[in-house]
Amino acid sequence: MLNWNDPTPTERPPSARMPNPAPRPASTAAVATPPPPEIAQGGATGLEQVALGAGRLRVEDKRMINCRSDLNQLIPFKYTWAWDKYLAACNNHWMPQEIDMSADVALWQRPDGLSDDERTIIKRGLGYFSTADSLVANNLVLAVYRHITNPECRQYLLRQAFEEALHTHAYQYVIQSLGLDEAEVFNMYREIPSVHRKAAFSLQFTEALADPNFRTGTEKTDRELLRNLIGFYVLTEGIFFYVGFVQILSFGRQNRMVGTAEQFQYILRDESMHLNFGIDVINQIRQENPQLWTDGLQAEVLEMIDQAVALEQAYAVDTMPRGVLGLNADMFGGFLRYIANRRCRQIGLNELYPGAVNPFPWMSEIIDLKKEKNFFETRVLEYQSGAALSW
Ligand SMILES: [Fe+2]
Ligand SMILES: [Fe+2]
Repeated sequence: MLNWNDPTPTERPPSARMPNPAPRPASTAAVATPPPPEIAQGGATGLEQVALGAGRLRVEDKRMINCRSDLNQLIPFKYTWAWDKYLAACNNHWMPQEIDMSADVALWQRPDGLSDDERTIIKRGLGYFSTADSLVANNLVLAVYRHITNPECRQYLLRQAFEEALHTHAYQYVIQSLGLDEAEVFNMYREIPSVHRKAAFSLQFTEALADPNFRTGTEKTDRELLRNLIGFYVLTEGIFFYVGFVQILSFGRQNRMVGTAEQFQYILRDESMHLNFGIDVINQIRQENPQLWTDGLQAEVLEMIDQAVALEQAYAVDTMPRGVLGLNADMFGGFLRYIANRRCRQIGLNELYPGAVNPFPWMSEIIDLKKEKNFFETRVLEYQSGAALSW
């Protein structure tokens, strides 16, 4: 599992792969057959007719995109990093209703419990996230899943899709616990410009893939898939979530709204893994298809990152026009440039904002999954559904 301070590997050693399966028996050493017409362009989907007597799966035939081999056979593994993340995610299982919200409810109901600015931050945060996680989930299931032609990656995608549902559940649970106006919060991406612009920016990357006739298999469409993955994993989950995370976790640092902060801490842990998985997928596709990663696409991606930083900075200004919680909008400018530099390095690009410094070192500590002591002294660290994981 990658951590906040780890360099991102771009090359996977051959030893990371499972050994090839034994040679096929003569009776099944099939004559190579051309792919069915439905996968003549793009890859298999897993829904093709099952040919009786066809040859066994060979690990060297597995590919991230445009794979023509059987997608219904999980092993032999090729991308062990994807399977490892799937196992780690399962071990991090949690449910929103297991977190005690009573202190938050009491504080929220006290007229002097929170300032108006503090209430705005919480409502805007819930407003953005409550629909953003649905956008991510819909993009995963309706746009991305079909085109990632690898079973171990799909296994993680299915787990991630469930986690996105859990996150939407968590926001709903907080909104209901605090007695907020549900319509106001959930409709915020249609009413508040700074929230709307972020959602609209993410959605533009799903448009092309949402076309039922979209197929990978050409340089143009393979690049379109890469743009989508970068737009959602690197920009939406990797930049657009971070002002909200810092703001809500800052309440927890002051021992206020601790239930909400704990919900967000679990979500941040999941999101760190989503981001790391997405970066591994992007880098693996780049490695297998170097012709896609042209100077033109790299320049385009840097421009996309710069736009995302500007939108997130505008969201910071909108949600906190005055300093509050020891934070102010200017600090977020530095933080976002620091995060953006990280994202650039993670996908093999030069830093967009050289010299940017992180004004919130405590965020790095929370994101570092290996940290031994839990930040809020809650039970997050002890919570595991299995005994296999230590983080
Ligand atoms: Fe999420
Ligand atoms: Fe996510």
